[in-house]
Amino acid sequence: LFAGQSEFVKGVVAMSGLPPADRIEVCFAGRSNVGKSTLINALTGRKGLARASNTPGRTQEINFFTIGPEHYLVDLPGYGYANAPLAVVEKWQKLLKQYLSGRPTLRRAFVLVDTRHGIKDVDEEIMSLLDSAAVTFQVVLTKADKLREAEQQKVLAQVRDKLARHPAAYPEIVMTSSEKGDGIATLRAIIAGLE
Ligand code: GTP
Ligand code: MG
Repeated sequence: LFAGQSEFVKGVVAMSGLPPADRIEVCFAGRSNVGKSTLINALTGRKGLARASNTPGRTQEINFFTIGPEHYLVDLPGYGYANAPLAVVEKWQKLLKQYLSGRPTLRRAFVLVDTRHGIKDVDEEIMSLLDSAAVTFQVVLTKADKLREAEQQKVLAQVRDKLARHPAAYPEIVMTSSEKGDGIATLRAIIAGLE
């Protein structure tokens, strides 16, 4: 699945702009700056495909990428703090929630959580929304390269504990580093295995 070229399809600012729901879709959600766009680049092997930056609030549209003939990878705007005007942020937060709860072909939402920070209240809010919408979500820990093994294990335990309360949570947690490449092959295999 990840052997071929991945292409940018479009950036969407309203539900009416979504491409036809005719492919298997996975999306990447998470707090601003958690590493969503960088992870998509690591998965596709194309560095500049999704625009990443150190400024929270970099991704402001729902961006669709193809991977193979039957899958979309979807890069979402972050939630939580963003370096953008409040009115703009509120508009894209609303769109984000509409998308997460109203996309029939969304097979799995990857909820990215910074390994240094663990699950925050804003993450819980999104996870509860996914519970309500019955969208299976899976936690992907990011930036694992920034923590030692012992600290990684502590965060894993916290995440596992919190996920137990979410009916839509997929139990396996994937720890990644887009920088080092850790967990990327695992995540590719998970996506390729979805039907
Ligand atoms: P928004 O679009 O603003 O919501 O952010 P995002 O979640 O798409 O984050 P983005 O991919 O733009 O990355 C934010 C910053 O984190 C960038 O400076 C990345 O280089 C850095 N980053 C992302 N992944 C990793 C990682 O695995 N390790 C390290 N060390 N840095 C990372
Ligand atoms: Mg982004």
